[in-house]
Amino acid sequence: MAYNLLKGKKGIIFGALNEQSIAWKVAQRCHAEGAEIVLSNSPLALRMGELNNLAAECNAPVIGADVTSNEDLENLFAKTKEHFGGGVDFILHSIGMSVNVRKGIPYYENNYDFTHKGFDISALSLHRVLQLAMKHDVINEWGSVVALSYIAAQRVFPDYNDMADNKAVLESIARNFGYYYGTKKKVRVNTVSQSPTRTTAGSGVKGFEGFISYAEKMSPLGNANADQCADYCITLFSDLTKMVTMQNLFHDGGFSFTGVTQAVIEQMEK
Ligand code: NAI
Repeated sequence: MAYNLLKGKKGIIFGALNEQSIAWKVAQRCHAEGAEIVLSNSPLALRMGELNNLAAECNAPVIGADVTSNEDLENLFAKTKEHFGGGVDFILHSIGMSVNVRKGIPYYENNYDFTHKGFDISALSLHRVLQLAMKHDVINEWGSVVALSYIAAQRVFPDYNDMADNKAVLESIARNFGYYYGTKKKVRVNTVSQSPTRTTAGSGVKGFEGFISYAEKMSPLGNANADQCADYCITLFSDLTKMVTMQNLFHDGGFSFTGVTQAVIEQMEK
């Protein structure tokens, strides 16, 4: 059901790779709620071609940008402003990648070249997006920026590897940049800490199926899926959450504040 919550708003969605992507669902919901969007992803992701289907569905241009490149981002922002004839009201940062995870290198043996690359893509990119957006005045007053995080930023989930450090920094950047962008232009910046979700990035984590079923059993409401995450992001882009900023917001069915559940106790007693 749509509520026209984003009628008249314009935004950039980073990170829709395929139909499973959280960003894909957010883009569809933005469109349904009346927003106009620009879709962006890395040149590699664009070559896979699936994004064109989403672009057609949402009537949105696709502008490639590697988030580790200032030049790419400046080009994206310039073209977006040209397309809309002005700035945007919201940005979704739905980007993550760890080479150490991909190569199955354990945390205590991380290769630092890989660590740097993953950090640049998964964490520093939020700073880069915000810094360049501020420099080129891309986000309108009372705009909203949301980045996606995971609870491994606060607690240890061994196979999440160096992505845990990346998420901790990502949340810190949202907090710190949220201060400056809020003071300067009333732009809010938050992270949404989402339940484990079956996507390309998610499934790359070793033992992911165990992860996801444990979280399901440990959450009073069960795991939040990608569609529900999209619903939550829409509220954060809407004018209903104008005073929420610098927060890490758990969207996880209650997992983060649950010590143990009856379902887990029963499993342990088997
Ligand atoms: P996904 O694999 O669909 O999305 C990750 C995106 O990052 C892809 O579209 C990929 O092309 C993009 N990306 C990678 N390198 C890039 C670069 N250099 N420049 C621009 N884009 C680049 O997976 P998912 O799960 O939708 O991930 C979205 C976000 O949600 C990530 O930040 C992830 O860490 C976060 N998240 C995912 C959870 C899960 O269990 N799937 C749980 C909590 C958070």
